[in-house]
Amino acid sequence: MKALIPFAVVLTLAGCDKGADSPRGFSLPEGNPSKGEQVFMKYQCLACHSLKGYNTDNIEPELANRVLLGGNVSQIKTYAELVTSVINPSHKIAQNYIPSEVSDDQGHSKMRNYNDAMTVSELVDLVAFLQPQYQLVPFKRTDYPIYLP
Ligand code: HEC
Repeated sequence: MKALIPFAVVLTLAGCDKGADSPRGFSLPEGNPSKGEQVFMKYQCLACHSLKGYNTDNIEPELANRVLLGGNVSQIKTYAELVTSVINPSHKIAQNYIPSEVSDDQGHSKMRNYNDAMTVSELVDLVAFLQPQYQLVPFKRTDYPIYLP
């Protein structure tokens, strides 16, 4: 039993990303979702995005097809992921879209860069507004009927 302990430690350490660029230690102060909604409108996120409950009829589109925000996800959307999507959008390009519609020839996101415009407080509130727009829907296993001969 004792001999197994170092082995378990190695496995645990290997399982987590300890690099300087890992999300370890990341924590946001509590944001205000209703202020976040104002931030969302102020920066005209709806020019390129759609979000359930928000009308885009009177907003000039900046993309051929708006990229959906919120909705059902099989894995919880973390604050870290949302902050990354806003301040470093090319880190991970949204899936399920035609690449040329959402990124340029070099693979950079077509998302606008707000890093020199948005305050940190605005970012924190924005993320507090966005996170609950994603609903976790656990992956549903398909139950196949058992046919008995
Ligand atoms: C000029 C167009 C444009 C504007 C304006 C824009 N975005 Fe985006 N955004 C994109 C595109 C294109 C993508 C998909 C490529 C990518 O993942 O970066 C994206 C992706 C995202 C994602 C990740 C979506 C996913 O499914 O992975 C989030 C979150 C997001 N945007 C939030 C925002 C917020 C919040 C604003 C306003 C502050 C905003 N965007 C403004 C173009 C835009």
